[in-house]
Amino acid sequence: MSTTAEVPALSNSGGNVPLIELKDVGKQYGNIIALKGINLRVGAGEVTGVLGDNGAGKSTLIKIIAGLHQQSEGELLVDGEPTTFHSPKEALGKGIATVYQDLAVVALMPVWRNFFLGQELRKGGLIKSLDANAMRATTLSELSKMGIELPDVDAPIGSLSGGQRQCVAIARAIFFGARVLILDEPTAALGVKQSGMVLRYITAAKEQGFGVIFITHNPHHAYMVGDHFVLLNRGRQKLDAKYDDISLEELTKEMAGGDELETLTHELRR
Ligand SMILES: Nc1ncnc2c1ncn2[C@@H]1O[C@H](COP(=O)(O)OP(=O)(O)OP(=O)(O)O)[C@@H](O)[C@H]1O
Ligand SMILES: [Mg+2]
Repeated sequence: MSTTAEVPALSNSGGNVPLIELKDVGKQYGNIIALKGINLRVGAGEVTGVLGDNGAGKSTLIKIIAGLHQQSEGELLVDGEPTTFHSPKEALGKGIATVYQDLAVVALMPVWRNFFLGQELRKGGLIKSLDANAMRATTLSELSKMGIELPDVDAPIGSLSGGQRQCVAIARAIFFGARVLILDEPTAALGVKQSGMVLRYITAAKEQGFGVIFITHNPHHAYMVGDHFVLLNRGRQKLDAKYDDISLEELTKEMAGGDELETLTHELRR
């Protein structure tokens, strides 16, 4: 397990050097081309929305940045330096943290235990014991720093709403040194209100200078928080647009397959 000490503190990426850059990245699994010709830049204080249908290559893209897989071609640059990660731990060491949709939490354990899971604070001399009070206090303050008020950090995390759980996971990643947050469909299973909570949190993280990669199927959610958008379609980058250069209508249409959707509407409405 990694500890806080191995993770560099939040640092400025310096001028215009993006935190993460992909140059013409491709990935093959055997003879399946999962990604090809992907170019992406993630700056500090920016949200990049990555959209795409099932099988488009979104997870593959995240896995390359998160150190789970290596690209078959092209370059991954971190702070402008060509980098190859051999494990998620190496990526984490560079401040790249991924929050997966199926959060690995222990439902019956209190919120604060989950917050520090695997990286517990300890006190005492030779025989160390858990410093529960410090962990409680830190969990509470880290959450409230990002505008999340939980009445009780001793409550089991399973009793929290889906949105709250996502927010706890993001707060945790930030506390343990993330500079780049990769969020894999954090709103997919959530209703409107819960999604709103997570989207607010994403905006808060962005305003504090984090780089965010926000994976979603939902163009409305992407458009509410995104600074630029990348749309994947069967492993290719179908669209790469800044917020100012695309409307929600256009993004939705591109996401839905444009003409395909119109044809379907005609067919069903006949
Ligand atoms: N480990 C693997 N081995 C072989 N093929 C894979 C592997 N992982 C992904 N693929 C293939 O690569 C393509 C892209 O998959 P990927 O999981 O990245 O898509 P996705 O956009 O995340 O889809 P979803 O929305 O369903 O999660 C698919 O054709 C998939 O079958
Ligand atoms: Mg996926």
